[in-house]
Amino acid sequence: MADGVTHVSEKAKEDEKVEDGMWEETFKSHTDSKPNGPSSISLDFSLPGVENVYGIPEHADSLKLKATDGGDPYRLFNLDVFQYEVFNPMALYGAIPVMLSHSAQRTMGIFWLNAAETWVDISSNTAGKTVFGQMLDYVQGSSETPQTDVRWISESGIIDVFIMLGPTPTDVFSQYASLTGTQAFPPLSALAYHQCRWNYNDQEDVAAVDQGFDDHDIPYDFIWLDIEHTDGKRYFTWDPHKFPQPKDMLQGLLDKRRKMVTIVDPHIKVDSSYKIHNEIRSKGFYVKSKDGGDYEGWCWPGNSGYPDFTNPEMRAWWASMFAYDQYEGSMENMYTWNDMNEPSVFNGPEVTMHKDALHGNWENRDLHNLYGFYVQRATAEGLIERSGGVERPFVLARAFFAGSQRYGAVWTGDNAAEWDHLKISIPMCLSLGLVGVSFCGADVGGFFKSPSTELLVRWYQTGAYQPFFRAHAHLDTPRREPWLFGPENTALIREAVRQRYALLPYWYQLFYHAHHSGQPVMRPLWVEYPQDTATFSMDDQFLLGRDLLVHPVTEEGARGVTAYLPGKGEVWFDVHTFQKHNGAQNLYIPVTISSIPVFQRGGSIIPRKARVRRSSSCMEHDPYTLFVALSPKRFAQGELYIDDGHTFNFDKQKQFIHRRFSFANNALSSRNLAPGSQFTTFSWIEKIVILGASKPSKATLKTPDGKESLLEFEFDASMSVLTLRKPGVNAGLDWTVVLQ
Ligand code: GLC
Repeated sequence: MADGVTHVSEKAKEDEKVEDGMWEETFKSHTDSKPNGPSSISLDFSLPGVENVYGIPEHADSLKLKATDGGDPYRLFNLDVFQYEVFNPMALYGAIPVMLSHSAQRTMGIFWLNAAETWVDISSNTAGKTVFGQMLDYVQGSSETPQTDVRWISESGIIDVFIMLGPTPTDVFSQYASLTGTQAFPPLSALAYHQCRWNYNDQEDVAAVDQGFDDHDIPYDFIWLDIEHTDGKRYFTWDPHKFPQPKDMLQGLLDKRRKMVTIVDPHIKVDSSYKIHNEIRSKGFYVKSKDGGDYEGWCWPGNSGYPDFTNPEMRAWWASMFAYDQYEGSMENMYTWNDMNEPSVFNGPEVTMHKDALHGNWENRDLHNLYGFYVQRATAEGLIERSGGVERPFVLARAFFAGSQRYGAVWTGDNAAEWDHLKISIPMCLSLGLVGVSFCGADVGGFFKSPSTELLVRWYQTGAYQPFFRAHAHLDTPRREPWLFGPENTALIREAVRQRYALLPYWYQLFYHAHHSGQPVMRPLWVEYPQDTATFSMDDQFLLGRDLLVHPVTEEGARGVTAYLPGKGEVWFDVHTFQKHNGAQNLYIPVTISSIPVFQRGGSIIPRKARVRRSSSCMEHDPYTLFVALSPKRFAQGELYIDDGHTFNFDKQKQFIHRRFSFANNALSSRNLAPGSQFTTFSWIEKIVILGASKPSKATLKTPDGKESLLEFEFDASMSVLTLRKPGVNAGLDWTVVLQ
């Protein structure tokens, strides 16, 4: 009997024992107290007719999402991942819970508005089938309708889902923009080239690197200072020995019309002699731990507190710290980098904040993926405020959430100097663009490790055609400023950067549209060719806007690439040779180390600035060259957007120029697209290059005042290129050129 009693009482204990992980849970040395008990929410979606789904960044994976059955789901949980792997659904720094589905018939979107840890499972009845298998099904008449099923699971919160019905990709982008806003319109200079490394050591180093760009005739706009520039990782301060005169340094850059970015991370050194810490602590602005004290964790400065950026009062205070009289040594040409905003907590579970840490009444569990969003928001608001609401901010952040596009740029974090990391930069940025974040880039050259010279050159060539163009490198890597690899490689890098600068008018126009209507800058081909199934899973090429197709060389030792030129009946012009190619073909292009395959769509007009100078603002008043690529029907259209490049006056006072260029019936004209807007420019039209043209007997420029003048021209019969010299007309005016 006695035995029996013992037995029964053990069973009772067993019954009471909560299933492991259901209540309090221990992970390595961390305990998650789960004060509100276990929870999770989930919903399944079936997408009949759909074989292709995209989005839910951030993952270092292919553009087209993979079926996850049998494997790990895609995870959305903002984490500082050390040396991340590519082609992997693991969570990275940012999370945007938005998925797009696409078929030749329609595009749709699902926005799962939840900032807790989220998992997305994807299964598809066609995923495992080979093309042969699909054909066999077809022949046997046994093919089922393709279908993709998606399961969203979040750890906490409520089910709050938006279905965006499309039916076109453009519709989905504007439907999503109506929910979360559009891309912040960056200062023009932020679209130029950025030079960063961890770290530029002191003021002399900054001056020498700056001079190096001039000596080697390579343009750049921003030089960046990483964490070592501060006084002991106390953000908003300067190391007194290495950077004793920050304003002199900034003034030196300003004199050359260049700019600087300094890093301001959201972990604050716990140090009673540090003003920022003392104020946050005394105002009660730190995130709290479960027992009510200030939450502390390790990060770059050692023991650190984490301001509660979800608190609007905290954000207002943080923003006020960017005022020129608060952030000592700062000037108007200094902008901000917010790193580690997942947040990164070196000694926290998975290197982040404990889920039971408290933001007011909310657990970190509930809003984890929003922390980084609020950090970037508070900083962008600070930069706007310091200028009295006049200047557009520039803030780069590593962690992000749905809507982060409103506050600046993001980058793909700590990649490596490896060819696979160069390749993955394309689908990673494309995925972000599909869900609103157009201003994305990857560390050029790779952050960890040291790139071979060939990889570095190829990375510059690729980065020159991606939205955020910044070289960056880890502290332990050898220096890699563009002129350190011999004159031939310097020339190759110079050429890639110069191509970027020449194309800035087009980049700026694309960002204006992203800001205005939510259309992505860097686009998968299917966005413009939605019925062309050949484009649905491309990871190695992309469009900028509608009109430029880029197929960077991302293979080591490549002697050629095969680019797919879409559009049956369309033509594409090689932007370097002006050679014309027919659409809807796989084109083999032999390449050398200097090749960057880029094609302009026949039917488009792209403005460029041919005189590249030491920074974008030095090119402000320079003239434009228009590249008119004719369609087979001898038609073309394009735009030009101009404003002051840095203020909100374009928005508040309609101070901008927006022109429509049209080529039809052998005449090219410039018309105002924005009546009521006002802006004057010194820039004029220097040259017009018409691709796919025939030789005219004369070219006449007509202006609205009734004046007519004959233009000089050259015609290259072998390439069918007509070059009109010096129309000389102001870029803001109406004009027509008639070819006879
Ligand atoms: C993080 C960032 C990296 C930066 C480093 C030091 O690893 O991702 O870009 O250089 O911190 O601040």
